[in-house]
Amino acid sequence: MALADDLDLARAEAEAGFAAAADAAAVETVRIAFLGRQGRLKALQDTFRSAPPEDKRVLGPKLNASKAAIEAALQAAQTRVSAVEIDAPIDLTEPKPRQRPGSLHPLSVLAHEIEDVFRSMGFAVIDGPHIELDDYNFTRLNIPENHPARDAQDTFWLDHPQHGANSRLLRTHTSSVQSRIYQLAGSGQLPKDQPFRYVVVGKVFRYEAIDATHDNTFTQVEGFVVDREITVAHLVGAIRTMLGAALKRDDVEVRLRPAFYPFVEPGFDVDVRAPGADPSVRYHRWMELMGCGLIHPDVLAAGGIDPTQWSGFAFGMGLERLAMIRHGIADIRVMNGADLRSLRQFAAG
Ligand code: DAH
Repeated sequence: MALADDLDLARAEAEAGFAAAADAAAVETVRIAFLGRQGRLKALQDTFRSAPPEDKRVLGPKLNASKAAIEAALQAAQTRVSAVEIDAPIDLTEPKPRQRPGSLHPLSVLAHEIEDVFRSMGFAVIDGPHIELDDYNFTRLNIPENHPARDAQDTFWLDHPQHGANSRLLRTHTSSVQSRIYQLAGSGQLPKDQPFRYVVVGKVFRYEAIDATHDNTFTQVEGFVVDREITVAHLVGAIRTMLGAALKRDDVEVRLRPAFYPFVEPGFDVDVRAPGADPSVRYHRWMELMGCGLIHPDVLAAGGIDPTQWSGFAFGMGLERLAMIRHGIADIRVMNGADLRSLRQFAAG
């Protein structure tokens, strides 16, 4: 009987096929070929149906036995390949993925260090609103409406600037907090007739063309002291102490150049340089870091503080620039870029 031979052959081939299949896809191919709707077994069942009844008595059990054997071979193959797939990728000697703890942004690390230095010199750390009034950001700092100094700090206005002192804007510098403190001190809302020292660390905003050293959002550290007979020597001393701590070296070179800021008189720009640095590297040369000076008498008077009794110094520094010098970063955009591959290099600890 040809069908009996065909059944034996199909069973032998199926068993060999399943035994040789190396993965789940190969097992599936063999299954479709033998047990699929158009597979070999289906064709043999059709042949069986048209066999004479006396043959069917013999062939029936053989057909069932062949089908059962092929299905058993399928099951065995499926169990085998799934075990292979689980086993293969596990390498018990492989180190497990390292858990990476979070870390502070390099600017935050630096800000905390600077705040600590100033606290050690008796300063209080404060901040003011990001959305500021024209009055505090400009007018009380001796930058009246239509003064050309406003052009140097073009900003994002929330109201039309022509609304005057109460127009709202994103503060262009942390010097705005000076105005607020002078007003509080002058009106007796802070302990009256007492010297004070504050440092402000916060975000400021400018309508800037962005490049390697300018961003439209950056961080300023503003420090100011009001006391009796304050001189430029006090100012320079505070700046040197801060820079030494922030750059972790006591040999940082500092130079002052005369500069104009409406809220100080005299005013200076401060440049810094790390000695022994490679002058061919851009940020190893003198780099402008901050403005500073002795607080203009009109600015104290605008807050109600008597400038014949009181004097002070103030400075304002870009924190990103200092971080760039400290870490040798050539582009300020790394700071706000949120690219963890860059920032992780400067993680503390
Ligand atoms: N506010 C100035 C700016 O953002 C920086 C500055 C200059 C602050 C001189 C000061 C200062 O306190 O005395 O450009």
